[in-house]
Amino acid sequence: MEIGPRMVADVVTMMSFAVFLGVVSTDPDMLQDVCVADLASKVKVNGFPCKAAFNVTDFFFDGLAKPGVTNNTLGSLVTAANVQEIPGLNTLGVSLSRIDYAPFGLNPPHTHPRATEIVFVLYGELYVGFIAANVLVAKTIKAGEIFVFPKGLVHFQMNVKRAPAAVIAAFNSQSPGTLTIATALFAAKPTVPDNVLAKAFQIDAKEVEMIKAKLAPKS
Ligand SMILES: *[C@@H]1O[C@H](CO)[C@@H](O)[C@H](O)[C@H]1NC(C)=O
Ligand SMILES: *[C@@H]1O[C@H](CO)[C@@H](O)[C@H](O)[C@H]1NC(C)=O
Repeated sequence: MEIGPRMVADVVTMMSFAVFLGVVSTDPDMLQDVCVADLASKVKVNGFPCKAAFNVTDFFFDGLAKPGVTNNTLGSLVTAANVQEIPGLNTLGVSLSRIDYAPFGLNPPHTHPRATEIVFVLYGELYVGFIAANVLVAKTIKAGEIFVFPKGLVHFQMNVKRAPAAVIAAFNSQSPGTLTIATALFAAKPTVPDNVLAKAFQIDAKEVEMIKAKLAPKS
């Protein structure tokens, strides 16, 4: 076959398509059976270096067995079960968390930069949703039901009943990461300048200061 301009154009199109597909990838594939995270290593890599020796405890965690304590301002608590709690998850591309909600408690709007999330309701009733291109996709879900929050999109869950609620959340990353919108913007250190927030939210500096004071970490 001759290599003409037409064929070059086809190859370029195919390569662009492959690059486009690559954009949807998640945690990289592993290159060995296990790579138990050496959380104490000083070596900086994408993930964690593998521990020389490991045992069954690196693959076990009972931290999601009991409800978390939810008596905080928002009335919710996320208990993570990711590579930090389970070193054996290193390079495996999955993790879980348990979220407990006090009556009317809120897990406030946040994103996971590295993972899609799928939640399964253990008990209670929650109004949950995400925002995609300024469209709210939301629904009330109850025990036994499932909802999906696509990777990187802002989402939340609110307990709509005068009774506790809980979900198990699964992620396609060993470390999904969490960025909570309100605290990222109003409780960052160093602080985001008042005039940036005032203009962004179309409010005045005094209102920005008020929100900053409320969201400041209690010491
Ligand atoms: C696993 O290894 C850790 C530390 O290396 C040790 O403390 C623990 O006792 C071991 N557990 C078992 C079940 O071998
Ligand atoms: C939450 O409850 C625990 C005990 O269940 C208590 O020790 C703690 O002080 C409480 N915290 C708040 C903020 O009320």
